[in-house]
Amino acid sequence: MSLFFKKSIIAATGLFLCIFLIVHLSANMLLLLPENLARGLYNSYSTTLRESILISIIAYLLYISIIFHVIYAGIVTYKNRQSKGVRNVMNHKNENSSWASQNMGVLGVLILIFIVVHLVNFWARVKLGIGENVKTDVAGNMDVYEVTFTLFHNIYYVIFYSILMIPLGFHLHHGLKSAFKTLGFYHKKGLKILAKTSLIYAVVMSVGFGIIPIIVYFK
Ligand code: HEM
Repeated sequence: MSLFFKKSIIAATGLFLCIFLIVHLSANMLLLLPENLARGLYNSYSTTLRESILISIIAYLLYISIIFHVIYAGIVTYKNRQSKGVRNVMNHKNENSSWASQNMGVLGVLILIFIVVHLVNFWARVKLGIGENVKTDVAGNMDVYEVTFTLFHNIYYVIFYSILMIPLGFHLHHGLKSAFKTLGFYHKKGLKILAKTSLIYAVVMSVGFGIIPIIVYFK
């Protein structure tokens, strides 16, 4: 399989994950509403996610995307390190040698650690029923709001979630620009707009996800 094909898989799966994050952040913003509103809305949103067949199919695509993104990014980073001559080909070093572009592997590993802990915290409990039983709210929905509320009243998790949103921001900023270039987007004016858009996107995602645990902690 050619380097270009591997990079295209990383780019396409990465873009899909970027779309997921927009939806995920919008839903998690519900946590910031007053408790009487937030609990009901968040729990019924979470129930809809689990019960809709269409969303379940999208969720499987999401898991496959995460796995492919991680595996191919690992392979390309390893091969780049091995052959000094083509080192940093993946990161478009000639055009962009920012700190983030040269450390995508390290940033990716930090995000992977975050995702594993995060999935154990929520997904494994809510979707797989592993660990402590999740109670139901007055409407009979799983009380995922309570799971979140309890987790973010533990200061260590607040620090863990908030701090790891910094590498997420750097990874998204460089990753988004890089993905479009890999997929053949080379329009000069467009690239300037793309650079600004990816910066705004990365800041919104990292600040948005980063402040939720802090606000919930003080709720
Ligand atoms: C404040 C931050 C966050 C909160 C409160 C949060 C909350 C949740 C909850 C409650 C679930 C389980 C959904 C359900 O089935 O009901 C979930 C799933 C998930 N989260 Fe997060 N999340 C946060 C940040 C993130 C970030 C930054 C990422 C990725 C970098 C992420 C990736 C995922 C993934 C991949 C799933 C599994 C999706 C699924 O199976 O539907 N989350 N999250």
